[in-house]
Amino acid sequence: MAAPKALVAGNWKMNGLKASVQEIEDLQKLISEKNVHCDVLVCPPATLLAHAIEATKGSSIAIGGQDCHTARAGAHTGDISAEMLKDLGCSHVIVGHSERRSDHGEDNDMVRAKASAAQREGLVAIICVGETEAERDNGQTLAVVTEQVVASLPEEAEAINTIIAYEPVWAIGTGKTPTAADVAEVHAAIRSVLKERFGESGDEVRILYGGSVKPDNAAELMAVENVNGALVGGASLKAESFYGILQAYG
Ligand code: PGA
Repeated sequence: MAAPKALVAGNWKMNGLKASVQEIEDLQKLISEKNVHCDVLVCPPATLLAHAIEATKGSSIAIGGQDCHTARAGAHTGDISAEMLKDLGCSHVIVGHSERRSDHGEDNDMVRAKASAAQREGLVAIICVGETEAERDNGQTLAVVTEQVVASLPEEAEAINTIIAYEPVWAIGTGKTPTAADVAEVHAAIRSVLKERFGESGDEVRILYGGSVKPDNAAELMAVENVNGALVGGASLKAESFYGILQAYG
């Protein structure tokens, strides 16, 4: 079965003011001048979603949320539901990012419920997993990551509305990356879990690599078997560096 079309997703985290939407417009311009052979998604903070969706109308850039609540609506001050993201025009939402897992104590059960809420609304859930440095040092990487994938996948998830992002916690925002061989090993293990879960269509689920992806290491990381794109933090904030990463699929 052919590998799924790659997706490069930008996660702006808690960065960006209204003026930053210009970066998305600049990115659009760069893509229109020289096409890239991957899908492109930007996940700005919630405050910019409406602006970003407006700015990308009719373009090939998709817009997604960075998190959603497990419930559709209700008394949850400060939270945003998957239904709201869908209503706004988002196509994807990131769930279980390691910063959510650590800053907000989100465990696999919570992540699974969020992914389920997203998929119920017709969004694609980007479910993040990844080991800490201590877990890698203890040789627990594959056990931790596969357990996270199994436990974070909703029962009713389908290949079509599921993306897994493998992001080693120690590689996020640090400039450190695993070797290509290490990435290949983890992505192969995730692929096995997905095939066990979805059968043949487990091959169609995108597995993104994330953690210090930059223009100068993207081509090497994206060439690894079972790497179907990237989840990019810091380097997605500027159109030029994000476009530099997209060039891995140029
Ligand atoms: P980074 O973040 O690219 O800045 O390392 C990746 C992420 O957390 O998604």
